[in-house]
Amino acid sequence: MNFIKDIKDLDEKIVLLRLDLNVPFKNGMIIDETRINKILPILNYLIKKKSKIIVISHVGRPKGKMNDKLSLLPICENLEKKIFKKIRLIKNNIYELKKINLFKNSEEQIVFLENIRFYNEEEENDSNFSKQLASLGDLFVNDAFSCSHRAHSSVSKITKFLPSFAGLQFETEIKALKKVTSEIKKPITCIIGGSKISTKIPVIKNLIPKFDNIIFVGGMANNILKFKGHSIGKSIQEENCELIINDIFKLSKNYSCNIIFPEDVAVGKAMEGEAKIKEVNDVGKNELILDIGPKTINKINNVIELSKTILWNGPAGYFENSNFAKGSFEIGKKIAEKNKSSEIFSVAGGGDTVALINNIGIFNSFNFVSTAGGAFLEYLEGKELPGIKALN
Ligand code: 3PG
Repeated sequence: MNFIKDIKDLDEKIVLLRLDLNVPFKNGMIIDETRINKILPILNYLIKKKSKIIVISHVGRPKGKMNDKLSLLPICENLEKKIFKKIRLIKNNIYELKKINLFKNSEEQIVFLENIRFYNEEEENDSNFSKQLASLGDLFVNDAFSCSHRAHSSVSKITKFLPSFAGLQFETEIKALKKVTSEIKKPITCIIGGSKISTKIPVIKNLIPKFDNIIFVGGMANNILKFKGHSIGKSIQEENCELIINDIFKLSKNYSCNIIFPEDVAVGKAMEGEAKIKEVNDVGKNELILDIGPKTINKINNVIELSKTILWNGPAGYFENSNFAKGSFEIGKKIAEKNKSSEIFSVAGGGDTVALINNIGIFNSFNFVSTAGGAFLEYLEGKELPGIKALN
């Protein structure tokens, strides 16, 4: 793998910079800026080297369709204030862009392409689209480790058409995770929550042989509860997961890995509603499971108590509403307490998880915090991620 920091001459070079600015929003406002702050070093580095920068990023999952709510504009505005530079958001169709027209104004140093997932070709890892993107720059830098589990055009195929390099944050993340995975101490507990069930559920099987405990919370737990015959009302879930979950339980027996899931939950009639604690077999058909209950918190804290390493990806509930933040808060508090007395090594990863631990004020209670969620889990799986493979 080649690293951008080893390249001497970047003066006036046009750098296509893939970033992951997929930050959490609530009511149109950015609620956590960690992913933006983490890419300031690469931007400032390239600015200092007098490069011209074309930023590529996605926000959300617009599935190839334009969606004003998922525009990169609020992120450009946020970033402008941080780097004291004007940023132009290019909304034109990418196929109509030409390199010679891009930096006609010699003062201009940074432009953003609009949300790259407005194009179906991005997720299709389409060659022509990657080639068109590549034609706009002189070199490609991936500083989006958290997207590296995606074989997408601006992460993977683009490297076929341009000299390609790992960015500063990318390098930090892979070096840190390499160290964590090679020096990891047992018993290892992995807490998996959040709502991206389709991304995470296929990964679990490969984690079972490596870990002693896997704890399901948040949206991730809903499919498990359903599999166990409980009603989950109107809660989020993924269709057709029964075979995978069956395998998860079978494998966990073979490898003596404990699978822990909620015994009680906090339900609501709406995301922004009040919380009511219920046993898992008591959830009504119009209710949403939005947090774990006190018995489950207790059970999880007992597992953390006996662990040497905690890996955490995905909140335990809809913490954006404080009525459903208790589960995530109590888990975080327990990890922070054990980390403070150096009894555990703790690593957290993922956009929402980072927002959560910032919210609780325990960011510094983790030995390492990765910006990556899905990529973090797939890295733990031991796979060579498409974005890493492409740079190799
Ligand atoms: C993330 O938030 O983990 C990355 O931005 C990837 O997003 P995705 O799961 O929608 O591909």
